[in-house]
Amino acid sequence: MLNVKGLCAGYGALKILKGIDIDIGPGDIVGLVGANGAGKTTLVRTLAGLLPVQGGEIRLGGKDITRIPPQRRGAFGLAVVLENRNLFGELTVRENLALAERNGRGRRQVFSLARIIDLFPAVGEKLNVRCDLLSGGQQQQVAIARALLLQPDVVVMDEPSTGLAPKVVKDILDVLSRLRVDGMSIILVEQNIAIASSATSRAYVMATGRVAHEIPEGGWAGFMADEKLVSAYLGQH
Ligand SMILES: Nc1ncnc2c1ncn2[C@@H]1O[C@H](COP(=O)(O)OP(=O)(O)O)[C@@H](O)[C@H]1O
Ligand SMILES: [Mg+2]
Repeated sequence: MLNVKGLCAGYGALKILKGIDIDIGPGDIVGLVGANGAGKTTLVRTLAGLLPVQGGEIRLGGKDITRIPPQRRGAFGLAVVLENRNLFGELTVRENLALAERNGRGRRQVFSLARIIDLFPAVGEKLNVRCDLLSGGQQQQVAIARALLLQPDVVVMDEPSTGLAPKVVKDILDVLSRLRVDGMSIILVEQNIAIASSATSRAYVMATGRVAHEIPEGGWAGFMADEKLVSAYLGQH
């Protein structure tokens, strides 16, 4: 579904990603973890098309999207929820969702507005509210809802849980697990390994712009039990 090979990218002449290889199949829910500064957000922004690629390639459903502009990647099946959520603050929730709905029209329709409201009841209650008046948790849910309305094959989320109350995080993770049945692939960037391990079946561990370690399916418990590994890669205990 999503195949990243030898991906190099950074900021201007600065090289941050130094040859990233990632393969994600249909229905995979994969974690991307790593200490602060490891390059996770740089990878997300490169997948989104917001940073120029210095080398390597990104393929989605077999098609090379390495140089497709960001606003056209949705048509290829990619939706990215950026760290800052990028909602139109002065527009209502309904208006933000309608823009995504329009952009998703050319694709197989999996998510209707009704289904989105069923997944995120809090979003349904705020349809006529301006996005900049929502709480952080509500904004995050709108950002994910908007990504789903692009009818994507792959959704990439950059630390959706950061700064949110545990109850909201749980609601979001519950939705992610319900999406598994649709065969949609998800890359979840997550600093908190307790959250990452409960929400994903396997993971890539990034360090200094590389995939330094892979946690295979069923490997989360072993990884977390290995204090040396956890502190080496994540600086957590
Ligand atoms: N706009 C930028 N310009 C230059 N360097 C940056 C920029 N954004 C991030 N970096 C650098 O890229 C590296 C990776 O950062 P980032 O991708 O944000 O890591 P993570 O998301 O894993 O915490 C860091 O060394 C950071 O300082
Ligand atoms: Mg980051």
